[in-house]
Amino acid sequence: MSDRPSKITRLSTELANQIAAGEVVERPASVVKELVENAIDAGARRIAVAVELGGKRLIRVEDDGEGMTAEEAALALERHATSKIRRLEDLAAISTLGFRGEALPSIASVSNLLLRTRPRGADRGVEIRVSAGVTTATREVGASEGTTIEVIDLFCNVPARRKFLKSDGAETTQISRLMTQLALGYPEVGFTLASGSRRLLQCPSATELDERLFQLYKSRDHLVEVQKTAAGVSVRGFAAGLAGQGHGPVRGPQNLFVNGRAVKDRTIAHAITHAYSAATIKERSPEVHLFFELPPDRVDVNVHPAKAEVRFLEPSLVHEVLRRALGDALADSPAPEVALEAAPTRAPGPAAEASPGPWTQPVAVLADTATSTDGPGSTGFAPPQSLTDLVRDMRPAAMAPAPVPTGRSMLPLGQFRDTFIIAVDDEGIAIIDQHVAHERVLFEQVMERLTAGPLESQRLLTPLVLELSPAERQALGQHQVALTRLGFEVEEFGGDSVCVAAVPALVPIAASEVTIRALALDLDGFEEGGPVDQALRQVAATTACHAAVKAHDRLTPEKMVYILDELRRTAHSSVCPHGRPVVLRLSRREIERRFERI
Ligand SMILES: Nc1ncnc2c1ncn2[C@@H]1O[C@H](COP(=O)(O)OP(=O)(O)OP(=O)(O)O)[C@@H](O)[C@H]1O
Ligand SMILES: [Mg+2]
Repeated sequence: MSDRPSKITRLSTELANQIAAGEVVERPASVVKELVENAIDAGARRIAVAVELGGKRLIRVEDDGEGMTAEEAALALERHATSKIRRLEDLAAISTLGFRGEALPSIASVSNLLLRTRPRGADRGVEIRVSAGVTTATREVGASEGTTIEVIDLFCNVPARRKFLKSDGAETTQISRLMTQLALGYPEVGFTLASGSRRLLQCPSATELDERLFQLYKSRDHLVEVQKTAAGVSVRGFAAGLAGQGHGPVRGPQNLFVNGRAVKDRTIAHAITHAYSAATIKERSPEVHLFFELPPDRVDVNVHPAKAEVRFLEPSLVHEVLRRALGDALADSPAPEVALEAAPTRAPGPAAEASPGPWTQPVAVLADTATSTDGPGSTGFAPPQSLTDLVRDMRPAAMAPAPVPTGRSMLPLGQFRDTFIIAVDDEGIAIIDQHVAHERVLFEQVMERLTAGPLESQRLLTPLVLELSPAERQALGQHQVALTRLGFEVEEFGGDSVCVAAVPALVPIAASEVTIRALALDLDGFEEGGPVDQALRQVAATTACHAAVKAHDRLTPEKMVYILDELRRTAHSSVCPHGRPVVLRLSRREIERRFERI
């Protein structure tokens, strides 16, 4: 046997109490998760999992990792014994999947467990049997390098828990889903999963993520690559492209990993929704496989008993980096081809026959509805069936981004999904992306006003103190001139912090922090000594973006009129400062042609 000093130690009571512990073992899939994570932490290159009867009869996890000595194996089964942390400080920067020293003893306390292990380089292994938490046998054995754990008759001593398990098939499905996720997180590790005699998963070690994706999900042609690093946060992976399989982004699994750990996270989920709703109205739950890497001391993993959630030290930074990463990836992805075949010819209804002219009737009705439904949950306005159909029936060709005609003003009818303004004039119907339109308007206004002098500024009642990375602080410091002209007052505040005393009057106070963080990111890497003008334009664009109304904001009719009027006055109004289209038009000609009126 190897006589290296034990890698595992017992945690002090004080430290053990600091750990977010709870129910570790809920169902067979949670056992599989803990055992496979242990194997990954042990540096395994191959992990083989076998289950019987949905894991209720047997779960076996075999790895070729570093193994344990006899002494370590005995310790591993004790509560709060771990090789992964030692001191309180270690909790602040965890780089392993496990850290509590809870999993093995918890599993052993509700099953018959067999642990067989041999450390690398040792000539013998050890086998320990535990029954409902009591060690019943320990002996030296011949064993291959690595560790095998068998969990037999899970919950044999907790019948109440056993009763709550789902059917064998349903538990197997959960295990298979979990294994898929773990396999995705570690492409370089080979994984197999067998249920009885069936092979459910077979993934040889892969070199690249896309290879592993293919092993797990087969063709993923609808995904686009995502990649961005800023201010110490990196995100990479794949996300559903806008065109998908012809009908907008494909719905699908959302696999999110933070430093190799699969998590659910509201900040990330929100940024995904945000990025997609800015780019398309089609999809709220797009398929994504995203990997975040950030220094372990900037993410707290000790917040959830099953380690399924994390807490970011700077959630808004993570949000912003992801939003941009997805924004860039989606901007490069081909636009969706809305399925708009020639509209089926309908018998002209009485309404169409009697219609006096384009839209005079509906406009009045819709404008009224828009004013009267301002309560939360209402949809702004319900377009009459004819408009819904019309919008659906428009072909891409008819919907090319169009410059907003100058001269005549458009009359807003209401909002579609609180994200697009539907407007009409004599020449047709327009769909306007409210966020990009307002952003465009504000950007033009800011640039215009700047020619006269600095922008109007508002002082914050309580100055905002923000922690930023050195690169971000430097970026803000370097572009003081531009920031001041826009109405920002940002100063070094000592340590990692900056103090924001004032922001431009047009930025909502509540958006101050995100705006500053976005500026820090946008100006990061902006070439030093480059033309001030360029930095100024960047500051103006970022400010306009954060001051503008957002997708999903309910707008009053007055605000819509304002945005449309201002839009009409701005030059180049068919694209936003980031180059996104502002307006789609369906021309009168096209409408008449489709209704066979010409
Ligand atoms: N497959 C394995 N190969 C090598 N060592 C292992 C293996 N599984 C467990 N160990 C050792 O046993 C210790 C206890 O494992 P256990 O899963 O109970 O706790 P942990 O992984 O440290 O923390 P957590 O409770 O968060 O999972 C680990 O710290 C590790 O040193
Ligand atoms: Mg563990």
